Amino acid sequence: MKKVTVSASRTYDIIIGNNLIDSAGALSSNVISPCRAVVISDDTVAALYSERLIASLTNAGYSVKMIVIPHGEESKSAENYIKILNFLADEQLSRSDCIFALGGGVVGDLAGFVAATYLRGIRFVQIPTTLLSMVDSSVGGKTAINLCAGKNLAGVFYQPSLVICDYSTLSTLPDEIFLDGCAEVIKYGIINDKPLFEKLKSPIMPQIEDIIANCIKNKRDIVERDERDNGVRQLLNLGHTVGHAIEKCSNFEISHGSAVAMGTAIITRASFALGYCKSEDRDEIIALLSSYGLPTDCPYSAKELAHIAMSDKKRAGDKINLVIPFAIGDCQLVPTPIDNIENIFAAGN
Ligand code: NAD
Ligand code: GLY
Repeated sequence: MKKVTVSASRTYDIIIGNNLIDSAGALSSNVISPCRAVVISDDTVAALYSERLIASLTNAGYSVKMIVIPHGEESKSAENYIKILNFLADEQLSRSDCIFALGGGVVGDLAGFVAATYLRGIRFVQIPTTLLSMVDSSVGGKTAINLCAGKNLAGVFYQPSLVICDYSTLSTLPDEIFLDGCAEVIKYGIINDKPLFEKLKSPIMPQIEDIIANCIKNKRDIVERDERDNGVRQLLNLGHTVGHAIEKCSNFEISHGSAVAMGTAIITRASFALGYCKSEDRDEIIALLSSYGLPTDCPYSAKELAHIAMSDKKRAGDKINLVIPFAIGDCQLVPTPIDNIENIFAAGN
C-alpha cells in the first residue's frame, strides 16, 4: 500500500493498494467520522463493486444509501446532476454527511460537482475504478458536467477529502478502457518523468502500484503549483489539443486514449520538425505508444484538426498554449498564434 498526500486548497491523502474497497469504511472513518453517506456509481461498476463498498462502509458505522446512473459519458449531464441533488435533498443529507464516488472519471467528475455544490459543499471520497481515473481525474479537484455545447463546460475546482485507489478493480476493466488509461500514464513520463517512461518499457501490471503512485505524485506536484489551471497545470494537456480535435472529427468513435496517443505522436513529430526535440526522443516516444497498441497515425488532415482546435476552450485570445516535448521528461508550454496551428499540426501529421 502506498500513500500520496496532496496539499491544495484542501489537504488529503490518496491511498493506493490491492482490495482496498473492503477497507474503504475504515480508511474513510479516519478522515470523515461515520455519518450518513451516499454512494454515487454507474450501473456497470455498481454491479461489480457496490455490495463490498456498502458492506465496508456499514461495518465502519456509516449509514449508506446509493444512487446509480447509467454508464457512459452521456451520464455526465445536467439532468443527472439535478437528479442526484434532488436525491440528496430528499434523503435530507446535511453538511456533516458525505458522498462516495465509485467509478471512473464520469462518476468522479459528476459526483464531485454534486459534492461541491450541494449545500455549498459537502465532503466526498473518490474511489476510482479505471486506470485513467486513478492516475488523473480523481486527483486535483477538477469536477464538471457536460453541456450541449461541449464537454466539461460547467464545473468547479473542489478537492476530495480522500481518494482510495483499489487497483484490483482494474481486473474487470475492458481492454480498450485500460488502454485509454495507459495513454495518460505514458503522458506523465513524457511530461516530466523520464524514469517513469523507462519503467513503462516493462509490462505495466506487475508494477501497477508503483506506476499509479508515480503518476499521482507527478500530478500532485503540478496541482500543488497551479491548482486552478492558470499555468503549469496545462502541461497535463500533452496530446490533448490535437486529441480532442481527433475525438470530435471521429464523432467520438475514436476513444479518448487513442486520440491522445495520436495527438501526442503528432505534437512529438512536429517538435522534431521544428527543431525542439531530437530524433531519438521522437522515435522512443512513438515506439512506446505503439508498444502498448496505441495508434500514432491520424486519419484526419492538419486543416480539419486545426479548424476544431481553434474553438478549444483552452484557447486564450489569438493564441493556444501547445504542450511541446523538448525531450523525454521535459515538456514546455509554447504559446502559439492560432495562424500557426495548422502548419505545426501538418509538420507532425
Ligand atoms: P468512464 O467513467 O466512462 O468509465 C469507462 C467505462 O468503464 C464505463 O462504462 C464504466 O462503467 C466502466 N468501468 C469503470 N470501472 C470499471 C471496472 N473497474 N470494471 C469494469 N468496468 C468499469 O471513463 P473514464 O475513462 O474513467 O473517465 C473519463 C471521464 O473522465 C471523462 O468524462 C473525462 O472528461 C474525465 N476526466 C476528468 C479529469 C479531471 O481532472 N477531472 C481528467 C481526465 C478525464
Ligand atoms: N486532466 C487535466 C487536469 O487535471 O488538469
